[in-house]
Amino acid sequence: MSRKAWDAYHPHYTALKLKKCPGFHQFFEDGGVDVADVEIELTGDVSGKKLLDICCAGDATQAFSWENLGAEVVACDISPVAIELAKRNAEKIGSRIEFKVADAQKLAPIADNQFDIVYATYTCWLEDIYQTARAWHRVLKPGGRLLLLTHNPVVSCLQEADGALTVERNYFDNPPEYYNFTGTPIADEYGGWNGNVPIVEFFHSLADVINAIAEAGLCIKKMVETGPQDAEFPLLSQLPKYMAWLAQKEMHGVQIGEKT
Ligand SMILES: C[S@@+](CC[C@H](N)C(=O)[O-])C[C@H]1O[C@@H](n2cnc3c(N)ncnc32)[C@H](O)[C@@H]1O
Repeated sequence: MSRKAWDAYHPHYTALKLKKCPGFHQFFEDGGVDVADVEIELTGDVSGKKLLDICCAGDATQAFSWENLGAEVVACDISPVAIELAKRNAEKIGSRIEFKVADAQKLAPIADNQFDIVYATYTCWLEDIYQTARAWHRVLKPGGRLLLLTHNPVVSCLQEADGALTVERNYFDNPPEYYNFTGTPIADEYGGWNGNVPIVEFFHSLADVINAIAEAGLCIKKMVETGPQDAEFPLLSQLPKYMAWLAQKEMHGVQIGEKT
């Protein structure tokens, strides 16, 4: 269901991204970088590192950015349409990124112990975050690091209207949400998209995120909370909309931080 919805939306999504960023191809051809500062700070120097970007979409903005920061990038997405669009964009930019169709929950086409960095975004599209975390762990080299950017689940239960915050969803009883997909915020900016395709989003609590990372064998090194300063939502602006996690796969038989 998710793949069908994204396949239908991606030509519009990529077109809107290119419309929003005139000079998109030139920007990346000239070495441009468009990932949040906090992500760059958490990841540190990526030059010469093998990085897997999961859920790259057709514009592959972050994948091109990591490449321009010096990483050797492989990027994947569940949608074959997204991957086709990403390859076309890469050709125009002169990028050497390798693109693959893969479900983030298994990463089946990706071999074990390959990457220094796994970059993952937005768990709301993934049904089984525990299985997903095991896939992140599997493809990382020993000592490799996960950078995960996702929504703060507590704050995502709130809604701001008329100068007040209300609890819109029950944090403890939050089943999958089935709805008709009208695109992402970028589609809203341009008046929406009426593909009229069913899609589903999944809610993962803070405990689920932490336990999935820990149970997979990844050691959390740092977590940073951020929120866009959005004049339209002055109350929500005071809360952390996003969380960025840095976690590391243990070296064989050695605990991270242990003296050898
Ligand atoms: C909102 S876009 C995010 C794109 C980009 N990472 C960003 O942060 O702007 C979500 C992407 O996740 C992809 N996606 C959804 N479910 C997925 C899954 N199970 N495995 C891999 N990719 C998935 C969609 O095709 C889409 O490209």
